[in-house]
Amino acid sequence: MSRVTNPFRLLARKLKRRMSNYSPAAFPDTVSCGAFYDARNSLFSGDDMMILEYSGSEAQCQLFERAISLLAPIGKIIDLGCGFGHLASYLDEKSIPYKSYHGIDVSKQMVTKAGNRFKGRTSVSFEVRDILTNPFAKESFDTGYVLSVLGYPIGENPIRTMMEIIEKMFSSCRVGIVFSHVASDRKGGLSFTTVPEDLALRCERELGAKTELDDDGTDFTYLVSLRH
Ligand SMILES: C[S@@+](CC[C@H](N)C(=O)[O-])C[C@H]1O[C@@H](n2cnc3c(N)ncnc32)[C@H](O)[C@@H]1O
Repeated sequence: MSRVTNPFRLLARKLKRRMSNYSPAAFPDTVSCGAFYDARNSLFSGDDMMILEYSGSEAQCQLFERAISLLAPIGKIIDLGCGFGHLASYLDEKSIPYKSYHGIDVSKQMVTKAGNRFKGRTSVSFEVRDILTNPFAKESFDTGYVLSVLGYPIGENPIRTMMEIIEKMFSSCRVGIVFSHVASDRKGGLSFTTVPEDLALRCERELGAKTELDDDGTDFTYLVSLRH
């Protein structure tokens, strides 16, 4: 029996592979960033890691582990740029206790899918929300996480935008927050990077935070915890 290959199927696969490598140079605002992740949801439907731009679930779990070592989840958790809520799944899998988990994201598709995955769980909730235009009241939560979210430059002054997101998250958490960012001079092709010590110092100076850095000097991702 001879089998006929549809050439357009191969073309679609090729295009998908190309699209997976596409990284916008910058976003004018957070709404466009949400639209980019909405588009990835449609294109890579069914492949979470591809949508989220992780190399694999192992890399994602390692990042969660590092974040939790810096700041254990206490009480009410807020997860900005929550994606599919994988952080909540990770905590559940590891039996790490928390009172409640609230995930916010600028991508509607992420929030819809995350909500469907946790249907019936009253302590886990999701919301489409931009903290820049719609911040939470002071100390609404206990601990906050911003993981693999701040890698794209947003707005005319990307460092300022990033600092505003960090500041608003820090103010909304009673204990503190952890965020990850991309270190300068570690990997080619990354357009928005920072020097770990410089950013930690800036958080100390501008936000009055007590900081701790997780940076091995090699990995392009580093983490900072900010405590009150
Ligand atoms: C690479 S994914 C990471 C998702 C999740 N934190 C994880 O580690 O699995 C980045 C997510 O952050 C969201 N995002 C980017 N900028 C944001 C912002 N300013 N506010 C809320 N969500 C944002 C994107 O829509 C996307 O879902």
